[in-house]
Amino acid sequence: MRFLVLHGPNLNLLGTREPDVYGRATLADIDGGLAGLAGELGVSIESFQSNHEGALIDRIHAAAREGIAGILINPGAYTHTSIALRDALAAVAIPAVEVHLSNIHARESFRRRSHIAPVVVAQIAGFGAAGYGLALRGLVARLKG
Ligand code: DQA
Repeated sequence: MRFLVLHGPNLNLLGTREPDVYGRATLADIDGGLAGLAGELGVSIESFQSNHEGALIDRIHAAAREGIAGILINPGAYTHTSIALRDALAAVAIPAVEVHLSNIHARESFRRRSHIAPVVVAQIAGFGAAGYGLALRGLVARLKG
């Protein structure tokens, strides 16, 4: 089973970007940890980061053609703005989990609304980098169970 991990805008700056909010783990740390966990779970992952909405949408479309079993997505600020990203996830109907490092419900009011949440299996927010591992475990368990 192959999983796609999608990282949205500004997440390439993790490690130095507002560390009090997002922690000190870099994107490479997160992807490396997930690859190790994927090995334990007997699945494989591929990661993709983009600061461009259309590139993320194109990657989701390609995932459908490639037979990707599940998607983990941290859409960054596109969470709160992108109906196009939501529509792409709905269109391919690949089970997805929305991940946020911070608890978006405990921050500014504009972060409380997610356009993505209604089209995903689950949302994990506030566990920092650990949230990605929880999301992968949850999605694998759901698809295998
Ligand atoms: C984020 C939360 C978003 O509101 C923000 O725009 C991000 C990161 C998170 O992981 O906590 O870029 O998705």
